[in-house]
Amino acid sequence: MDAIGVAVIGFGWMGRVHTQAYLRLRQHYPDLPRPELVAVADDVPGRASEAATRYGFQIATTDWRDLLEDPRIGAVSITAPNFLHREIGAAFAATGRHIWIEKPVGLDAGDARAIVGNGHVAVGFNYRHAPAVQRARAILRDGGIGAVTHARFAFLSDYASAPDGALTWRFLRAYGGNGVLGDLGAHAVDLIRHLLGEIDTVTAADTAIFIPRRPAPGGATTGHERGTGPLGTVENEDWFAALLRVGDTRVTVEASRVAVGRQNHYGFDIHGTAGMLSWDFRRMGELVVDGRPVFVGPGDGEFGAFQPGPANAMSYDDLKVIEAALFLRSIVEGVPHGATLPDAIRAAEVLGDIAHRATAEP
Ligand code: NAI
Repeated sequence: MDAIGVAVIGFGWMGRVHTQAYLRLRQHYPDLPRPELVAVADDVPGRASEAATRYGFQIATTDWRDLLEDPRIGAVSITAPNFLHREIGAAFAATGRHIWIEKPVGLDAGDARAIVGNGHVAVGFNYRHAPAVQRARAILRDGGIGAVTHARFAFLSDYASAPDGALTWRFLRAYGGNGVLGDLGAHAVDLIRHLLGEIDTVTAADTAIFIPRRPAPGGATTGHERGTGPLGTVENEDWFAALLRVGDTRVTVEASRVAVGRQNHYGFDIHGTAGMLSWDFRRMGELVVDGRPVFVGPGDGEFGAFQPGPANAMSYDDLKVIEAALFLRSIVEGVPHGATLPDAIRAAEVLGDIAHRATAEP
């Protein structure tokens, strides 16, 4: 296979990042099929056609259903809001298309399970692709810090900390699901599973909504703008924390979208009987081993496809190029590489357990 036609459904932040990843793919992975930008869909009038002009899609539409029968499309990026993942995902999966879908994949585990087809399904759990995370995984696999006793995973940000931030789809249960659980918590749960192993139980949990009302958006939003309309109710979680068990390992996980003063503070501390590993996304190329920073380099995950030597910085967008490469490699080889639909289903189940456990607490 020399080329594969792709469509991108939903052209907000993630739609743009997936598109740019497709365009850069062959620059970093010359042996993989060349993604051809066939179609882009976005329901905001003008948004898809602007994307087509800027990035070179052959067709633009406001209705993704127009693309279901297009024989030129072999793979589909689903980068629309969470409430549409199920409908769009199930429709394209039924046609046998390969799918690269953003986390959390729908509103809950049931939505993720509804995506059934013969194509490969890749999920946007990008943080597991950071070369430092891959180095940590290799160290853990080799027993490099002994038996893991306890670990902390935190995904803290302040993107929703302004009380006048617009009441977008993210804050409504029917559109955004369980708020920060699916938004940042899904990434944290995926990292826990990827590094430490399957989560056995949720032993304690708590959740909170700290900003209960927000103004409606003034018009079509492109992110986290101020709202100018009447106040409405925030329906899903701003924050959660939970205690988990992975075998005998005790794990704490916390995520917040209203952590004033913290921006993209995503990472972990993992303690073993003979050492410690620590990682912070904001210093993506650094793994802290026993308190000492080690710069990752070629040989750590996919680093070598981007930079020639250690301590050259990689970016968030590079993680999406890696994800695109693993997606296409999975299609070519018929063997999954990277996060798949069962990973999204399991993450959603754990997050559902956390939400349930939190409401069961006094
Ligand atoms: P966004 O709000 O920037 O973009 C969503 C786009 O979908 C908008 O352009 C909107 O007009 C479009 N859309 C809405 N209804 C549509 C429809 N019926 N047909 C076609 N397009 C439609 O949102 P963002 O941040 O790009 O998030 C999209 C997805 O990506 C979400 O599921 C989110 O959880 C995920 N995400 C993942 C991240 C990661 O690190 N992996 C980071 C940010 C978001």
